[in-house]
Amino acid sequence: MQANELLDVVFRWAHLIAGIMWIGNSMLFNWLDRNLIAPPADPAHRLSQGKVFMVHSGAFYEVEKKLLEPGQLPDQLHWFKWQNFLTWLTGICLLVVVYYLNDAAFLIDPSVRAMSQAEAIGLSVGTLVAAWLAYDLVWTTVGRRTPALATALSFALLFGAAYGFTLLFSGRAAYVQTGVMIGTLMTGNVWMRILPSQKELIAATRAGQEQDATLSLRAKQRSIHNNYLTFPLLFIMISNHFPSTYGHHLNWLVLAALMIGGAGVRHFMNVRYAGKAWLFPALAMAVIGLAGTMIVTRIREAPAVTIEGEVGFARASEIIQARCAACHSAQNSDPQFPVAPGNIVFDTPERIGAMAARIKDRAVVNKTMPFLNRTQMTDAERAELGKWVDGGAKLR
Ligand code: HEC
Repeated sequence: MQANELLDVVFRWAHLIAGIMWIGNSMLFNWLDRNLIAPPADPAHRLSQGKVFMVHSGAFYEVEKKLLEPGQLPDQLHWFKWQNFLTWLTGICLLVVVYYLNDAAFLIDPSVRAMSQAEAIGLSVGTLVAAWLAYDLVWTTVGRRTPALATALSFALLFGAAYGFTLLFSGRAAYVQTGVMIGTLMTGNVWMRILPSQKELIAATRAGQEQDATLSLRAKQRSIHNNYLTFPLLFIMISNHFPSTYGHHLNWLVLAALMIGGAGVRHFMNVRYAGKAWLFPALAMAVIGLAGTMIVTRIREAPAVTIEGEVGFARASEIIQARCAACHSAQNSDPQFPVAPGNIVFDTPERIGAMAARIKDRAVVNKTMPFLNRTQMTDAERAELGKWVDGGAKLR
């Protein structure tokens, strides 16, 4: 295993663990907030916001949400901030290892836009910083007075950025860059807006003062944004497995449909606790997201080339040996992929035949293979391969 792949394993594994802890916590707290039993209206429960009883791992849990009497701060207070920070940090490490190193080979797709490694990294980092500044500015200015307008601006910013990334980077990198941007906004919200407000709460309690309610409300607002962003972000984290999404020529539109569907499902899971109908609306949002994806991915680009007559196996195999074998054989010649990715090798007719449907998907429909077209496959060759598969992928 190369050092690069080892780092990939370490950071990806840690990223997943930290992410589960962070999102798991945040979903548990959401659940707690929405399941509180209102406290009795007597002076003894003045500061209580409600209680919840749970059973787990062989005992009962009694949790109360409340403000504290001035000066009553306990010695041990648990914060939930490192899960978020570690998720973000390992995510950034992964971005560096997978997309910035190796000449930024996964980030740049010359058929989308040719650029140098330094340019690509500069654009990636620069847009992340700019995104936080723009989003935070919207909510510290417009958002204070007209949240509806700020919400509209945020949507424009999100979809605009996702679209812009598809004009700059390879499809898979554009998706991941959108995900890193969302994760960065969420982390900014936690560290720059939510934690400071919690610190105020603690300082006020310690000093025996009331907490400033507007601060708390603003923190809550950012918390809600994070809540809605989780589902879209989780899809992006696994999007690399779905070339028909990021590899499509309208990949930004596919992503928009999935983000709207994901956030919509989250919305109805949120209102569930307010006693509103949620299951069917949530399912409907999932269907809308998936149907949008199905519809958009069916919009095909007009074929660049049409092939007359049949294409036999001899020709298909010739193309595959010329354009795919560098990375998909027992002895790869591509230095970046010494071992065949995904264990996919095209060394025998049977192996080629067994993969025919995937070959068509990756090399003809989505054109996500050869990897960033490193072996310079032509449109005519793609059309020929497609014709061979459509003709029954015969092995003679
Ligand atoms: C420069 C290296 C390279 C070349 C050349 C290349 N591939 Fe790949 N291939 C990869 C990498 C990297 C992956 C794993 C990442 C991914 O799936 O995008 C992969 C994965 C695949 C997969 C498995 C994933 C799936 O979707 O099932 C298929 C099938 C595939 N390639 C087909 C092809 C075909 C067909 C060609 C030639 C037309 C080709 N590849 C040429 C690097 C290459």
